[in-house]
Amino acid sequence: MALRRILTVDSTADLAVLKQVSAPVPAVDDALRALMDDMLETMYAAPGIGLAAVQVGEPIRVIVMDLGDREATEEIPEGAEPTRNPTYYVNPEIVWSSEETAPYEEGCLSVPEIFEEVERPARVKLRYLNYNGEQIEEDADGLYAVCIQHEMDHLQGVLFIDHLSRLKRDRSIAKVKKAAKAA
Ligand code: NI
Repeated sequence: MALRRILTVDSTADLAVLKQVSAPVPAVDDALRALMDDMLETMYAAPGIGLAAVQVGEPIRVIVMDLGDREATEEIPEGAEPTRNPTYYVNPEIVWSSEETAPYEEGCLSVPEIFEEVERPARVKLRYLNYNGEQIEEDADGLYAVCIQHEMDHLQGVLFIDHLSRLKRDRSIAKVKKAAKAA
């Protein structure tokens, strides 16, 4: 496995890639699994809870996520290793979304240190191929629904800041540029 560079919006070249619409994947094979392994490792190292292939410069319809214990009701004992629960989505589609929406303060590894509230459908039904190429259909709500919709936006070249007002979006990019320059 290898760490990949995450593209960020402060770079004009990176932003141009992030705006691309990702292509469907023809087959879930070992080469694709190797990419998904790299993406997961890169996501954990960042750290983040979701990553689309386009964010590491591969504009194909692949997402990795790990929501871990975030929705667990029991408290995680102090000093315990976080439970890893990686999930993989190839050619995901949203086949249904609820009328009801819910707000969530989102962030993105390609827009570092920016957190803004985005309103999305509260529940969705999705269909995708998993790590083994099996077709899965399942319902998502809560953080799962937020995260999968955020990641699927990436496959369309859409960033969460594109859901904000023009002013807030431009201000977010300016902040990331300023932070990158200072670093
Ligand atoms: Ni993102």
